[in-house]
Amino acid sequence: MSDVAALTGETIARDPRPPAVRGGANLPPSFDEASLARPAVAEVRDLVIASRDGSELVHGVSVSVRPGEALGIVGESGSGKTLTCRALLGILPPGLDVVSGSVTVDGIDLTDAGEPGWRRVRGNRIAAVFQDPASYLNPAMPVGAQLEETLRVTAGLPRRQARERARELLDDLGIRRVDLVLRQRVAHLSGGMLQRVLIAMALAADPAVLIADEATTALDVTVQAELLDLLRRLRLERDLALILVSHDLAVVAQVCERVQVFRDGRVVEAGATSRVLRAPGHPYTRELLSAHAEYGLERYLA
Ligand SMILES: Nc1ncnc2c1ncn2[C@@H]1O[C@H](COP(=O)(O)OP(=O)(O)OP(=O)(O)O)[C@@H](O)[C@H]1O
Ligand SMILES: [Mg+2]
Repeated sequence: MSDVAALTGETIARDPRPPAVRGGANLPPSFDEASLARPAVAEVRDLVIASRDGSELVHGVSVSVRPGEALGIVGESGSGKTLTCRALLGILPPGLDVVSGSVTVDGIDLTDAGEPGWRRVRGNRIAAVFQDPASYLNPAMPVGAQLEETLRVTAGLPRRQARERARELLDDLGIRRVDLVLRQRVAHLSGGMLQRVLIAMALAADPAVLIADEATTALDVTVQAELLDLLRRLRLERDLALILVSHDLAVVAQVCERVQVFRDGRVVEAGATSRVLRAPGHPYTRELLSAHAEYGLERYLA
């Protein structure tokens, strides 16, 4: 198999090292009381998002995440998960606005900060990866050049250091034969590999918060499991606050100690993942759970 052909499979992405932390049988890592006492690093409060024609899409949602914490956001399609995340990044789609509530990062209220205020925060303190990594990359350029460009712009590194840092980052993300990967274009890399490149870009400026919005959804289960392991490890090693958005409760159960269930632009249930999955209080959460019954979510719980 040629080097390039090898890269299109997932084998090269697999790190032979065991995941840094595994709380037994896939348990989410514990989040101790000292961690719970830390103030939120990113927060939306009573967030209302509406379109300019007046229709309200998100109706008073509150979400917060502390350093080192992994929060899961689940809910059906159209329930407001992505819009809430976009509000946390200060990038709502055109025509939509935050009409009330607040968005705070590092204790600073950014609700009315405007683009200059957001530019200091976005990418630097809070970064995100989404579904379909290929669409965020230029197909005509090697991915390495794009990662280096991000490192130069976001982290302000000179060219030579950016190159060195790109290698280090990919190595840290469990990619072997890093130099070969960096020379490839999008078409020659697998979805899992591209998502790792996007995660490396998101981590360029060492942010405090990483939002992963359906970032593993389109990948096959093995690759998805590898990326979830990677997110868990990054979170622990970097004290990264993680917001993991998924329609899949099993994904959230593997990574997050806390979960919020969205429905129709509202949070209908929130709490410790183990409590919500074991004793759901809202009929909609029970519905979501029953759809997962066949997968045996119990095995992810402490
Ligand atoms: N640019 C937009 N203009 C108008 N309405 C929008 C826009 N983007 C999203 N919406 C609407 O806002 C609501 C919430 O959308 P959002 O993308 O946050 O849902 P979601 O929970 O992320 O869904 P999915 O699981 O499909 O990603 C939906 O009704 C959607 O149709
Ligand atoms: Mg979405």
